[in-house]
Amino acid sequence: MSQLSDALLRFHQENPRNLPWRKDPSPYHVWVSEIMLQQTRVETVKGYFERFMASLPDIPSLARSSEDLCLKLWEGLGYYSRVRNLRKAAMEIVEKHRGEIPCEVSDLKRLPGIGEYTASAIAAIAFHAKEVAVDGNLVRIYARLFAQPLDPGSPKDRRLVALGFAEHMDIDPAIFNETLMDIGQ
Ligand code: ADE
Repeated sequence: MSQLSDALLRFHQENPRNLPWRKDPSPYHVWVSEIMLQQTRVETVKGYFERFMASLPDIPSLARSSEDLCLKLWEGLGYYSRVRNLRKAAMEIVEKHRGEIPCEVSDLKRLPGIGEYTASAIAAIAFHAKEVAVDGNLVRIYARLFAQPLDPGSPKDRRLVALGFAEHMDIDPAIFNETLMDIGQ
């Protein structure tokens, strides 16, 4: 096994995290959590995630919900376009994808509110696809591990880092990505 995968697996086993979206990492749970985590800290997201799921537990309920209810559930999280897009994407998933969240990064990226990072995170964590969700933290980890001068803000460097990490991935992509996120934080 790659030394990095081995080390990540060990870190994961030795540092368990009690995150509500990791208990049952269904595509819906992973998607909603990733949207909340785009601009909000993990500790804040926990309670909002639980409340959101208690009220809108699946894609059909989100697709049928009112925008007012969605905004109410998001109140205090900020960046309200996130929840407007979430609701629009749920309607699109019902209409164009038979109610199932697509598993391919390219299809995910066509949905409102889902960019490169979030598409890769959903594909890896919910569908166990060999993808790497790279943010500034992951660029910093990679630069330090492999002693490379990289720019956390550069899209080109982020692509390089995604390819570089993927070469070392021979454990479950969900564990690989989540553990790098945990270390990055
Ligand atoms: N930040 C973004 N996505 C995350 C996740 N799935 N777990 C922890 N932190 C994250």
